[in-house]
Amino acid sequence: PTPDTGKLSKLNFSAVSKGLADTVVVPAGYTASVIYALGDPLNSATTAFKNDGTDDSFENRAGDHHDGMEWFGLNAAGSASTTANDRAVLGINHEATTDESPTRLSSFFLHANGGTPTLPRPAFEVDKELAIHGVSFVEVKKTGSTWAYVQNSTFNRRFTTLTDVDLTGPAAGNALLITRYSTDGSKTRGTLNNCGTGKTPWGTFLTGEENWAGYFTRPTGDNAARGNDKSVTALNRYGRTEGTASRHGWESAGSDDQYARWINARTGTSTDGSDDYRNELNGMGWIVEMDAYAPSSRAKKRTGLGRFAHESAAFSLPVVGQALAVYMGDDSRGEYIYKFVSNASWSAADAEPADRLATGAKYLDSGTLYVAKFNSDGTGTWLPLTLAAIPSSYTAYSFADQGDICINARLAADAVGATRMDRPEWCATHPTTGEVYFTLTNNSNRRAAPTGSQYAPDSANPRAYTDVKNAGTTQSGNVNGHIVRIKDGAGNAAATTFTWDVYLFGAEAGASSQWVNLSGLTSDNDFSSPDGLVFSKSTGLCWFQTDDGAYTDVTNCMMLAGIPGQVGDGARKTLAYSATLSVDTYVGAAPTEDTLKRFLVGPVGCEITGLVESPDGKSMFINIQHPGETTAMTAVAAGDPNAASYTSQWPANAGYGAGKRPRSATIVITKNDGGRIGT
Ligand code: FEO
Ligand code: CA
Ligand code: CA
Ligand code: CA
Repeated sequence: PTPDTGKLSKLNFSAVSKGLADTVVVPAGYTASVIYALGDPLNSATTAFKNDGTDDSFENRAGDHHDGMEWFGLNAAGSASTTANDRAVLGINHEATTDESPTRLSSFFLHANGGTPTLPRPAFEVDKELAIHGVSFVEVKKTGSTWAYVQNSTFNRRFTTLTDVDLTGPAAGNALLITRYSTDGSKTRGTLNNCGTGKTPWGTFLTGEENWAGYFTRPTGDNAARGNDKSVTALNRYGRTEGTASRHGWESAGSDDQYARWINARTGTSTDGSDDYRNELNGMGWIVEMDAYAPSSRAKKRTGLGRFAHESAAFSLPVVGQALAVYMGDDSRGEYIYKFVSNASWSAADAEPADRLATGAKYLDSGTLYVAKFNSDGTGTWLPLTLAAIPSSYTAYSFADQGDICINARLAADAVGATRMDRPEWCATHPTTGEVYFTLTNNSNRRAAPTGSQYAPDSANPRAYTDVKNAGTTQSGNVNGHIVRIKDGAGNAAATTFTWDVYLFGAEAGASSQWVNLSGLTSDNDFSSPDGLVFSKSTGLCWFQTDDGAYTDVTNCMMLAGIPGQVGDGARKTLAYSATLSVDTYVGAAPTEDTLKRFLVGPVGCEITGLVESPDGKSMFINIQHPGETTAMTAVAAGDPNAASYTSQWPANAGYGAGKRPRSATIVITKNDGGRIGT
C-alpha cells in the first residue's frame, strides 16, 4: 500500500479514457459529487434555484462560469485553520456567462426565453448579468463522508461588478484612474471576468481579472474627443479601438452609473475625467485581494502587479528574510509572463497575521514588476518595468510615472523587448523545487511564415503547424499548446535571470507531424490546450486541466496528473522549418505511464477549471465551467420541455438540482477507500 504521507513517485490510478459522454468520469475507486452550482442560494432568504430563466437575486446566489478556486480552512469553532480537513470557505471565481454567439448580446441560459439579443437591453436582464459575474465565498463542510455547501454560513458572500473596491499601490490616485465614480482615483466599481486565482502566504484570496476589455464599448469619434492623445494608444493596445461594441450591451440599460460606465469615452468637459468614464477601463485588469475570513472586509486591487488579462498569481516558496515573488501570465495571443518582487522581506509572523489585508499591503503595494525574456540558449532574463528601464528609443507611448507603467504594463513590456508567448494561462509553483510552471494554452497567431499580427516560432514558443483533425476543420499555429517551466537563478525570488525548458507539449497521440508529439504522449495521457495548473501540497502532483477547441471531436475537456522532473532533465531539440528558419528548444524528460495520466473527463461543452484539496489530500474540489456551451439558441427558445436538445443537461442528469439547463458547478472528488487523491 502507498504510504499516507509524503510526495508520490508513481501514479497509482487507472487512466481515464478520452470520451464524449455528458458526465464527469473519474478513475475506478473514486467518486465525484456536485456541491455548488450556478444559482444555488447563499442565504435562507433566497429561494431555491428553479433553473428556468426566471430566477433573480444573484447577488445572493452562486454566480456563473466557476473558474479559479482557493481553500480557506476552518476549525470546529469557525476560526481560520491551516490544518482543518472537513470545513472551509471556498473562494470561487465566476468568470463569465454562456453566449450562443459573439453577436447575440444576452446570455441565453440565464433568461426565460434566452433574453433580449439586441440593443437596447432591458435593465432587469442586465441587472441579473451584472450580479452573476464576480466571486463567491461559500462555506463547505463534511458531515460523515458527505460534503455539502452551508446555505446560511456567515462566511458566505458575493463580490460582483457592482461592489465598491479600493485601488492600492503605485497607481492608486493616479490621474489615469479618475472617474465620475471616484474623482480622486482611489476606488472603482466591481471586479469582472475573474479567471485564475492565487492564495497568499498570509492566507488571503487573489483573483485575476482577464477578459474585461470586451465588456466596454467605445464609440466612434472618441479618438478625436480625446485629441488623439496617448490614451488612444493605450486603449488600442488593450483591445478597445473606437467603434467596438460591448459583449453584452450593458451600457444600453439606462443612464445610471452602473450602466453608463460601460461606455468608455471622453464625454465630459473636465481636464481630468472627473465628469465622465474616459478612464473606466483602467479600473479593470488587476489582481484583486480579498479576505475570506473577514466577511465585512473590502476588496483591494493591487496595482503594483500590473494591469493585463490576468490568470492566476503564484508565489515563490517563502524564505524568511527574503523577498516574495508573484508570478503571473497575460492570456492573450503574443502577450507576456510577469513577476512582481516585494520590497518587504518575508517574516514568519506574517503567516497568520491579525490583519491580513494590512499584510497584503506590506508585500504587494511596494516592489518591482518584471517581464520575462526567454533566450534561445535555455536561459532567460527578468526585465524591470520602471521609468529608468524604458529605452529612450521607445516613442510609441510616454509614461508619466510608475502608476502609468502599472496601468499600461503591456506597453512597458513592449518597450523593453519581452518575449511574446503562446497565451500564458495559469502558473503554479512546484512545492519542493520552487520551479514555476506556466501553461501556454495555444496560439493561432504563431506561424513559420508570419504576416500581419502573427509571430514566428522562437525557442520558448517553438511550434507552428496545422491540425486538420477536429471535425474536418483546419487550425493553424501552436494548436495544442505547451507547459513551460522556469527556475529562478541566484537570489531565487529576487533573481533577474532564470533557466527554462518545456515540461510537456500538448498533442494528439496519433499526430504524424514531426514536431507535434514532442513529449511522446500516449492515448492514456494525450491532451490539448492546457489551462488550469495547480500543484498538490500533499502529494506533490502537478494537476492540469484543459480548455480545448482542437481535440473536442474526440474528447471533452479533461484533467491530468503529472509527476514532473525539473528544468534541464531532458534534451535540446532543433525544429527545422526551412533552410532559413530553425528553432532550438528544450524538451523535458519524456513522461511514462507512471508519471502522466488522464484522471478526469468532464461533461459536454465544458472546460475544467480551478482546483483545491483539503490539506490531507483526501478531498479534491474542482470546477466544471460552462457545460453545454455548444447548445444553440433554438434549443433554449423552446424552453425546458425541449431540454433534450441542449447539448448538456449536466448536473441535472447527475441528480443535482431542478430544471434541465446546464449549470457551471463545483464538484468534490474523494477516494472510496478514504485515501489521498492520486495515490
Ligand atoms: Fe479565463 Fe484564459 O482563461
Ligand atoms: Ca484560464
Ligand atoms: Ca483558456
Ligand atoms: Ca471558459
